[in-house]
Amino acid sequence: MAAVRDYKTALEHLKTYPKKDGLSVQELMDSNTRGGLTYNDFLILPGYVGFGSTDVVLRTRLTKKIALNTPFVSSPMDTVTEADMAIHMALLGGIGIIHHNCSHDEQAAMVRKVKKYENGFINSPIVVSPQTTIAEARQMKQDYGFSGFPVTENGQFPGKLLGIVTSRDIQFVEDATLPVSEIMTKDPVTSLHGITLSEGNEILRKIKKGKLLIVDEENNLVSMLSRADLMKNQNYPLASKSATTKQLLCGASIGTLPTDRIRLTKLVEAGLDVVVIDSSQGNSLFQIEMLKWIKQTYPDLEVIAGNVATREQAANLIAAGCDGLRIGMGSGSICITQEVMACGRPQGTAVYNVCQFANQFGVPCMADGGVANIGHIVKAIALGASTVMMGGMLAGTTESPGEYFFRDGKRLKSYRGMGSVDAMNKGAASASRYFSEDDKVFVAQGVAGSVVDKGSIKKFIPYLYNGLQHSCQDIGVTSVNALREEVQSGNVRFEFRTASAQLEGGINNLHSYEKRLHN
Ligand code: IMP
Repeated sequence: MAAVRDYKTALEHLKTYPKKDGLSVQELMDSNTRGGLTYNDFLILPGYVGFGSTDVVLRTRLTKKIALNTPFVSSPMDTVTEADMAIHMALLGGIGIIHHNCSHDEQAAMVRKVKKYENGFINSPIVVSPQTTIAEARQMKQDYGFSGFPVTENGQFPGKLLGIVTSRDIQFVEDATLPVSEIMTKDPVTSLHGITLSEGNEILRKIKKGKLLIVDEENNLVSMLSRADLMKNQNYPLASKSATTKQLLCGASIGTLPTDRIRLTKLVEAGLDVVVIDSSQGNSLFQIEMLKWIKQTYPDLEVIAGNVATREQAANLIAAGCDGLRIGMGSGSICITQEVMACGRPQGTAVYNVCQFANQFGVPCMADGGVANIGHIVKAIALGASTVMMGGMLAGTTESPGEYFFRDGKRLKSYRGMGSVDAMNKGAASASRYFSEDDKVFVAQGVAGSVVDKGSIKKFIPYLYNGLQHSCQDIGVTSVNALREEVQSGNVRFEFRTASAQLEGGINNLHSYEKRLHN
């Protein structure tokens, strides 16, 4: 029997091994041995923890010129990203890409809303007209769960401010048919547009009123501050903002039809920071021409091209001047592209191969689709992605478009593929993503379904953020950039997972359980 080695020589002895434990990324992703891999097919080996998880830095690049404090991007889908989602994604350090399955003007209005958003201010207050009756105001109080409605001349926002009607004004009035103009407070406290949140809050504290109304020079209502919000006004230290204007960053998608040039012009006028050319197959004459036109017409606008799944597709778009790439074909949770088109690639292999190529040219890549948990995000970054785009993960949140409904005792929201018949019926933009705008019969590449209520992304994104920090800590890297570098240098190692290893990694042998992801 061989003699037992002295424990003090363990580190010296380790050096005598020709290779580190596990597989390098190149060995793992060698398609000749294993075929295409998805995120669930492998694991990252743990490293050495010599720092706290809160020290882990998640700052990363979205495009050549835009950096974000978190790698999270919401997908341009009509059940995922409109203004509310884009505002909150940006506040929480990511970015939202507003979908284009709507008119040019509607999309531009959403971009404008994001760019004009001021944290803490109620930027679209519910208003009433002088003719609104007391009964109607009481009903509104019940419907919205708050009172304190500014009264504007035209009963709309924006509009000239005439007064404010609060619960105290309507409480004891017996004749509910009276118009609010009879009982409203006619000289509400106002401040001129341009004051900061802390100045506004200071005024609110002093005046001891429920609302501070913000107006412009012509006394048009611009926004409002509420005493109820005073204490809970959150700070968003990670917010994605333009360095010059301090406005939130906003992205939007367009297609490759000639009319998309008009659309883009309107989006740029609204203040767009980054455009995503939205196509399921980005390596096309149409996209390359669109890309070149954008770079010529709006040289300062960052352009993310795609989608791609191979080096060759990526090379064409890089050569045409894109500032970022979006990777994924057939990996989305609502997607049936691989089944119907026979085209696509397992997402792990697609991300690895495109990133290996694109990163050499300084083009950041976004792994799009198939992200269903924090582990998938970490793996996408380890394979070379700088950001991840999520659809299903963010659908069903308070900030996603659409109303909740109940089915089978569950609170749900709709989530549908942009290549589903439903979405293509709604707009040519959706159909054009799949080159189907002229089709007599749509060939669906996605399905329409529903997802369970996930609550607000104000909780969900911080959960992803903390989870990603903890994962990097386990791997032994202090940032997402370090993760990518250490993978490339062979220090961060991998293991392939057999089918039984995947089963072992899941929950097993329990009679029942509840899977709660965060408090
Ligand atoms: P998820 O995050 O796995 O739900 O995937 C979202 C991604 O799926 C989107 O960002 C798109 O790239 C892609 N996608 C959206 N709609 C469709 C569709 O109808 N068919 C195929 N892929 C789609």
